[in-house]
Amino acid sequence: MVQEILDVLRPMPGEFAVDCTLGYGGHARELLQRLQPNGRLIGLDADPIEMPRTEKRLRDVGFGPEAFLAHRCNFAGLPKILAVEGGHRADLILADLGVSSMQIDNPARGFSLKFDGPLDMRMNPNKGQSAATLIQHTDVRSLAEILCENADEPHADRLALVLAGASCRTTLELVGLIRKDLLHLPETERELSVRRVFQALRIAVNEEFVALDTLLRALPECIAPGGRVAILTFHSGEDRRVKKAFKAGLISGVYASAAEDIVRPSAEEIRGNSRSKSAKLRWAVRSMGEAIGG
Ligand SMILES: C[S@@+](CC[C@H](N)C(=O)[O-])C[C@H]1O[C@@H](n2cnc3c(N)ncnc32)[C@H](O)[C@@H]1O
Repeated sequence: MVQEILDVLRPMPGEFAVDCTLGYGGHARELLQRLQPNGRLIGLDADPIEMPRTEKRLRDVGFGPEAFLAHRCNFAGLPKILAVEGGHRADLILADLGVSSMQIDNPARGFSLKFDGPLDMRMNPNKGQSAATLIQHTDVRSLAEILCENADEPHADRLALVLAGASCRTTLELVGLIRKDLLHLPETERELSVRRVFQALRIAVNEEFVALDTLLRALPECIAPGGRVAILTFHSGEDRRVKKAFKAGLISGVYASAAEDIVRPSAEEIRGNSRSKSAKLRWAVRSMGEAIGG
């Protein structure tokens, strides 16, 4: 959804941007091109494996440290990063939530349901517990809650009974356990549950909702008057949070305007990239003055 994001963020030469989810750097590159001359972009990502590669790619296409800086950190810490970077508010902020295709396609990261690998799922493998540890040490009730709240899994209770406490070391072992427990369902329904369980565990392992809620609360103090924010979500748990925060910001006056309707990818984009099918883009514009609560 590159064009849709550019339409919403309207990057201009000389502006200061933050990409909260640098990933491969595709969006960052498009923004950087439009911020020149004299513009700047800070890219954040929690992933210590992919981020140095992305930083190098952007350097190699000509963006030096005066235009582009990368910070390996959780986007929940955005206000601290801005303070370190001179205390300026951003003219535009982008967050493209979830995991990147490099992370999914690398079996060693443990996100893939197709290729076997350690059941890890951490964006930052140096921090927190892996999905294998989470499953092994979470009780049935808490695991059912995770499956329900993070992915609206309709078979959460029975899956939690099987999975909680299980010693499940690899991604395909987990896929096998889920399929076996849901053998009575048609294959398409069963595979949807496999996807939802992976999504729910990934969100729990990376505390994604905590990070998103923290970012949404911090955004008004991070955006310059008249600045724009765009957030791309991939499931209802994320979209609900963004919608609620932007609506509350409109009511309090910290945002002058916000998306009434979600922006969706074009049919052409969905044909070329099936992951984009569930993408929803929401945006808001910071009001010019300091609003109460802002
Ligand atoms: C969907 S990808 C972004 C792709 C990127 N827009 C591009 O054009 O290549 C999401 C990225 O955000 C990172 N990420 C997710 N949650 C994060 C968080 N709370 N803090 C920092 N990075 C995060 C992931 O590690 C991943 O690299």
